[in-house]
Amino acid sequence: MIDAATYGPWAVIAGGSEGVGAAFAQQLADAGINLVLIARKPGPLAETADAVRAKGVTVRTLELDLLDPGAVKAIREATDDVEVGLLVFNAGANSYGSDFVDGDLERFQGVIDLNITAQLALTHHFGGRMKLRGRGGILLVGSLAGYLGTAHTAVYSAAKAFGRVFAEGLWLELREHGVHVLELVLGVTRTPAMERAGLDFSVPGLIVAEPDDVAREGLAHLPHGPVWIAGGNDAVAAKRSGPERAALLEKAHAGHQRLIGR
Ligand SMILES: NC(=O)c1ccc[n+]([C@@H]2O[C@H](COP(=O)([O-])OP(=O)(O)OC[C@H]3O[C@@H](n4cnc5c(N)ncnc54)[C@H](OP(=O)(O)O)[C@@H]3O)[C@@H](O)[C@H]2O)c1
Repeated sequence: MIDAATYGPWAVIAGGSEGVGAAFAQQLADAGINLVLIARKPGPLAETADAVRAKGVTVRTLELDLLDPGAVKAIREATDDVEVGLLVFNAGANSYGSDFVDGDLERFQGVIDLNITAQLALTHHFGGRMKLRGRGGILLVGSLAGYLGTAHTAVYSAAKAFGRVFAEGLWLELREHGVHVLELVLGVTRTPAMERAGLDFSVPGLIVAEPDDVAREGLAHLPHGPVWIAGGNDAVAAKRSGPERAALLEKAHAGHQRLIGR
């Protein structure tokens, strides 16, 4: 049961048009929470907005790229007149993979700007208002990739590790102010972005989660931060944690290579 008195009357979903973001939108609308949905592609954004409006809530859409320098200002302007009780920062799948020293530094920067810079800016803005109000929620969507370094996506893994550790500190800072903080850690999840990327969901032994299920888990665990590992992936996260980093890396790297057919 989502508590609209704590997390309403408005929620902002950065990355609220597809997959897990759209699932959050549906579930929050069911709880009567009005929505500001942000994404780049107009089609899925309008489709999700129409679907949740049909549930009776008010919806604003912002078609923008969170990497644009003016994005945060535009989001503030579009929300200054309403009370935002929940920020969901969902956008953040890896947009660029390459061995680091051979790669394009600007494109790596894009991964950091989305997962770290934009996330910090929105958390700072909305979190500050929630603290003053003495209530609210901040849900940051993370990844199992943030538990261990990965070859070819080293920057993405590091950005997701940042998100989790950041959420832990923020949880400590805000808990006595009535603001709930949760890092929702996802494993492989059947989203349109991953389908477009050609991920093979049929690999034997692979745990594949559905967007509706992980969104429901995230909202249920929001009052009980700082971290929730969704989709039954606790054991995978445990396998990626511990002091013997080289041994952990060798094992996970071999598994990852098999997964991507190398
Ligand atoms: N799917 C998985 O297997 C998986 C696994 C682990 C963690 N995660 C995490 O789960 C979250 C969601 O991932 P996803 O697979 O759904 O892909 P995603 O590419 O992060 O897309 C999610 C939403 O964010 C929007 N978005 C993406 N980049 C944006 C940008 N620069 N500016 C504005 N909006 C943007 C997308 O719409 P537009 O493309 O139209 O902008 C979509 O609505 C991410 O944080 C990801 O790291 C996913």
